[in-house]
Amino acid sequence: MTVIRSQLIGTGYKLPEKVLTNDDLSKMVDTSDEWISTRTGIKSRHIAAQDELTSDLSYEASLMAIKNAKIQNQDIDFVIVATVTPDNTFPATAAKLAKKLELKPGTPAMDVNAACSGFVYATQIADNMIRLGEIKTALVIGAETLSKITDWTDRNTCVLFGDGAGAVILQGAECEGKNTDTGILATKIYADGNQYEHLYSDSGVSLNQKAGFIHMDGKEVFKIAIPSLVQGVEESLKIAGVQISDVDWYVPHQANLRIIDSVAKKLEIDMDKVIVTVDHHGNTSAASIPLALAETFEKGKFKKGDLIAISAMGAGFTWGGIVVRL
Ligand code: UT7
Repeated sequence: MTVIRSQLIGTGYKLPEKVLTNDDLSKMVDTSDEWISTRTGIKSRHIAAQDELTSDLSYEASLMAIKNAKIQNQDIDFVIVATVTPDNTFPATAAKLAKKLELKPGTPAMDVNAACSGFVYATQIADNMIRLGEIKTALVIGAETLSKITDWTDRNTCVLFGDGAGAVILQGAECEGKNTDTGILATKIYADGNQYEHLYSDSGVSLNQKAGFIHMDGKEVFKIAIPSLVQGVEESLKIAGVQISDVDWYVPHQANLRIIDSVAKKLEIDMDKVIVTVDHHGNTSAASIPLALAETFEKGKFKKGDLIAISAMGAGFTWGGIVVRL
C-alpha cells in the first residue's frame, strides 16, 4: 500500500561569527579549559551579537536549506520554529521568518517550545501534516540565542550553552509503505512535567514579566538524560520496524559528550556512527540536532539510503526520537 512519507530534501545552518573558547570563559568565571573539556567535551561555542536575533539565524539557515533542497521559497506550505529564545513574546518567530522569506500569503507559521527536544517535536508536527496530505513542503527550524538568557556570572551554566540555528526542508513523496522506504519512518515524543524544576528559566511573562536566566540541577538532568535519549531511539526504531544494527548514523542532542558516550554504549552503537558537534557548538538546545544534521551533510558524510536515528532530551522534561532514511 502506498503511503506519503516526509523526505529530508535539504538542510542549512547558521552560526554567529563570535566564538567563545573555554580559555575566554576562564577569564570571566572561576573555571578552566580542563574542567569544561573533561566534564562536558565542550571546547568552544558561538555567541550571537546583541542585534543578532533568533529570527536572523533562522533566516540564514533557511536560505541555505532552501538552496540545498533546490526549491523556491514559494514552495513552502508551513514553517515551524522550535525555540525557547523567540525574538518577542509574541507573535511567533516563525511569523517574522515567513515575512522575511516572502512565503506565500497565508502560509501557516508557528513556534514550538519543547526546549532541547523542540526540533523533534516540530518535526513530528510537520511530518504529521505532510502524511495527512494537508501540506506538501515544510520548513522546520531549531534556533536559539541562549546567550541572551545565560547568567554570565554562573559557572554552573554559562560554560554549557551556545547560539545557532539549523533548518531542514521536508517534502511529501509517495512510498511503498515499507521499512526500506526513504523519508521519516517514525517520530515519538514524550514529556514529564514532574521534572519541571530541574531545568528552567527563573522568570517568565506571567510570573514576573521578564525572560530570566537558565537554572539547572546538572546532576539530576544528567541522570535522566541518558535513559530518555535511549528510549527516544529505541521506541522510534520499534515504530519504524528497524533494528539498531540497521542504523548508519546516530544524531543525539548535543549537551555533554559524557552523556552521548553513555547513550551510545547503552544502545550498543559504535562512536564512529555517532555525530558529535558539542565540542564546537556547546549545547544549543532546539538548534543542536538540525545544526548537527546540516553540518554533517555539508561535510559529505551522509549518503543516499543512510538510516539516521535521532534523539533529544530537555527541559520539561521533554524527550523523543526520529528515524529517517535519506
Ligand atoms: O540540554 C538539556 C540537557 N542538559 C544536560 O544534559 C546537562 C546535564 N548535566 C551535565 O552535563 C553535568 O551535570 C554538568 C556538566 C552540568 C556538570 O557536571 P558534573 O560532573 O555533574 O559536575 P557537578 O555539577 O557535580 O560539579 C562538580 C564540581 C562542583 O564543585 P564541588 O561542589 O565538588 O566542590 C562544582 O561547583 O565542579 C564545580 N563546577 C565547576 N568547576 C569549574 C561546576 N561548574 C564548574 C565550572 N568550572 N564551570
